[in-house]
Amino acid sequence: MIKELKMLKIAKVIDEAANVRSFIFNHPIDFEPGQFIMVWIPRVNEKPFTISYHNKEQFGITIFKVGDFTSGLYEMKVGDCIGARGPYGSRFTLSGNSVAVGGGVGMASIAPLDSKIENLTIIQGAKTKSALLYKERFPKMIICTDDGSEGLKGFPTDHLADLFQEKKFDNVYACGPEIMMKKVFDFCLANGVNYEASLERFMKCGIGVCGQCVCDGSRVCKDGPVFSGPALTKIKDFGNRKMLKSGKLVPL
Ligand SMILES: Cc1cc2nc3c(=O)[nH]c(=O)nc-3n(C[C@H](O)[C@H](O)[C@H](O)COP(=O)(O)OP(=O)(O)OC[C@H]3O[C@@H](n4cnc5c(N)ncnc54)[C@H](O)[C@@H]3O)c2cc1C
Ligand code: FES
Repeated sequence: MIKELKMLKIAKVIDEAANVRSFIFNHPIDFEPGQFIMVWIPRVNEKPFTISYHNKEQFGITIFKVGDFTSGLYEMKVGDCIGARGPYGSRFTLSGNSVAVGGGVGMASIAPLDSKIENLTIIQGAKTKSALLYKERFPKMIICTDDGSEGLKGFPTDHLADLFQEKKFDNVYACGPEIMMKKVFDFCLANGVNYEASLERFMKCGIGVCGQCVCDGSRVCKDGPVFSGPALTKIKDFGNRKMLKSGKLVPL
C-alpha cells in the first residue's frame, strides 16, 4: 500500500499499441487484481488507473491517450516522476474455470488475473489489429476484432455462446466499454453464470468521500470498481447512464 501520496520515478515505458503505453515503477505494491491507484501529475490533475503489471518489486499502469491527462502522461519518459496513492477499491474474486473478457484499455484490469488463476481463458476485443494489447504477454488469448483484421471477426460477445458450449466456464470477468460489459452480463444472467465487471466513472477523491463517482447509490471508487452480478442487477445506470464531471447524468 502506498498509504500517502508518493512520488515515483518511471523505470520503464512500453509501447503497447497505437496511443497506448505502459509505465513501470520500481516500487512494490500490495494489491489484488481489479484495484486502482490515483495518479497525480503536478499542475495537471489526478486520475484513477488500474494496476496492469505486478511483481514483488515492481508495478505498472497502462494508459490510453484520450484527453488532457492521458496525453500528458503518454509523453512522460523514463526518469520522470508521477505521484501515486492507493491501491483502492474492490477486487475480482479469484476462482477457477473462468473467462475474462477485455475490451480496449479494459484489458489493463484483466491482465493481472492471468497470474492468479490457473487456466484462465482471456478474450480480447478491439476495433482493429493495431489496437490489440498484450499479444506477446498472453499468447493463448482469444482475439476478436470488429473489422476481422486479426482473430475472430466481430465482438467478443458474438463468440461467448460457442466458447461456453466448449468450456463450461463457472465465472466471467469483464472490463471494457460498458455496452460490451452489459451484453456479457445479460448473457451470464440468462445462463446462470457468476459475473463480475469493473465499472468506470469519473472520480475525484478515489476514497468514497466526494460522491463524484456515485452510480445509483454505489460509489464506484469504494464499493467498486469491481461489482458482482447481483450488485449490478441493482445498479440501473449500468449500461444506461453515466455522470459527467459537472454532475449531470447522461445516456452512455
Ligand atoms: C477505476 C478506474 C480505472 C481506470 N483505469 C484506467 C486504465 O488502466 N487506463 C486508462 O487509460 N484509463 C483508465 N481509467 C480512465 C482514466 O482515469 C481517465 O479518466 C481516462 O483515461 C481519460 O482521462 P483524460 O483526462 O485523459 O481524458 P478526459 O478529458 O477525461 O476525456 C477526453 C475524452 O475522451 C473520452 N474518453 C475517456 N475515456 C475514454 C476511453 N477509455 N475510450 C474512449 N474515449 C474515452 C471522454 O469521454 C472525453 O470525450 C480508469 C478509470 C477508472 C474509474
Ligand atoms: S471519487 Fe469521490 S466518492 Fe468516489
